Order: sequence, then C-alpha cells, then structure tokens
Amino acid sequence: MSTSTREARPQIPATLLKGQKALVTGANSGIGKATAIALGRAGADVVVNYVADRASADVVVKEIESFGVRSYAHEADVSQEDQVVSMIGRMVEEFGTIDILVANAGLQRDASLTDMSLAQWEKVIDVNLTGQFLCAREAVKEFQRRGVVPDVSRSAGKIVCMSSVHQVIPWAGHVNYASSKGGVQMMMETLAQELAPQRIRVNAVGPGAIKTPINRDAWETGTAQEALLRLIPYGRIGDPDDIANAVVLLASDLLDYVVGTTLFVDGGMTLFPGFATGG
Ligand code: BGC
Repeated sequence: MSTSTREARPQIPATLLKGQKALVTGANSGIGKATAIALGRAGADVVVNYVADRASADVVVKEIESFGVRSYAHEADVSQEDQVVSMIGRMVEEFGTIDILVANAGLQRDASLTDMSLAQWEKVIDVNLTGQFLCAREAVKEFQRRGVVPDVSRSAGKIVCMSSVHQVIPWAGHVNYASSKGGVQMMMETLAQELAPQRIRVNAVGPGAIKTPINRDAWETGTAQEALLRLIPYGRIGDPDDIANAVVLLASDLLDYVVGTTLFVDGGMTLFPGFATGG
C-alpha cells in the first residue's frame, strides 16, 4: 500500500458514502485496515473493530479522522456473541445506526489434515464463519428497525462479507480455512436471498493473494514470490487497496443492483492458470 501506488490510481469520490455509518471487523491490519480507511475517505463514519493491539487500531482511527469523518476503535472478538451484540449496540448509541457492515475479521491456522487439532479447526470456523454470522445478524436487526432512508442510501443496509478465492479453489493443508470460506459463500448467498425483499444487499469480495501479514510466507522470499506469481495471470500480487476499492464500490449505491454476488479481486487466480499451457 505504498503512496505511489495510491497516487497513480483514480480516487473514489469523497462524497460517495457521505453520512453512512460503517463497521469493519478486523480493521487494525491488512485488508480490514485499508478498507476502513477507504470507507472513511469516501465519507463514511467508521468503527474500527480489533481483537488485539489497540495501538494499531488507534492509528487507523487517526487516519480516518483526517478525512473529517468520525471514527473510534472497538475491541471485540467476533466469535463471541455477547461481544458482537455490545459492539453493534454501542455503534447505534454513538453513531445512531449502522448502514454498512464489512465482515472482514479472519485468520488461518494451517496444518495437514492428520496434524490439524480440533482447536485449530474450531478457531478458524468460529472466527471466519460464525463471526460473520453473528455480525450480520446483529447488523440486520438494526437495518430492519431503521429501514430505507432515501437521503442516505437506496438500500436499508449493505453487508460485504470478506471471502477468498478459496471459497471455490480447494486448498490442501488448509481444510479449516477453505471450509470456512466455502461456508461464507453459501451464508452470503442465503442471506442475500432472504434479505433482498427488505432492500438489504449482501455480497462478498473474494480476494486472491494480497500482500498482508496473513500470507507473509507466500511473498516474503524471492522463491516464494515466484511460485505465487505462477498462480496469478495478471502478474502481480495484490495490495490491500485493491480489495478496499472493491468493498467501497459494493457498499455504495453505484452498485445498488448487485445482490448476492462474489466479486473476485484476484488478478485472475480463479481462472485455472495451470490450464493456460496444459489441459
Ligand atoms: C489467504 C492467503 C492466500 C490467498 C491466495 C487468501 O484467502 O488468506 O493466505 O495467499 O488466499 O491463495
């Protein structure tokens, strides 16, 4: 996420999400951080959720406030029902409502099947899938209570689920993670179908290989990077802003007719690159 990369890109208008209230889970690093900042730059007030490392969340809050919008950091473990309930409750108290939920918090605990403990399986499912369910449920209660406010948005609320290319690409050695993301896809599509009649839009973003702490091993060394690039037809590793821009657009009324879709942002990783020269 270098400044030069950012300057070279067209910017999302600072009024796109004016007056909207957004919550981003896992917003103190990586994709969540870039997304929270991008939502603030687009005019939204943003709650920066984190589970550990308050200082890093405060940095994100400061950057968001520099755009002249409101922000605060909120510690909560998204896999814990009571913590999610009080996080959304506080947001409604402080900001009046919630218009946008970015269910982003996620983690990996990698192991081959026979080495994977039940704790590793459960941790990933609890945070990546149950965490999104809990946040979506609590946000939707508020969307339903408030309904559509036409001056703010054409819809009663937007949820963007952070998925992965691994909602469709099987991933040996990561059965817990791939299963959680496959679950996110079906959860998102089911919620989209259930909630669309109430003018609530649910979609997902499916990132490919984005340079963040979660996949440091995959890009840190030259050899690892070379192997990774073989899986990316577009020939570059993504950066968090690639995902942040997609989330902002999906959450905005520019994409008001997009319902129940996964937008893959992956440089073509889901295009079976092995078949470019084989098959
Ligand atoms: C994973 C990364 C991985 C990428 C592409 C993401 O969902 O979190 O570790 O590099 O998918 O395989």
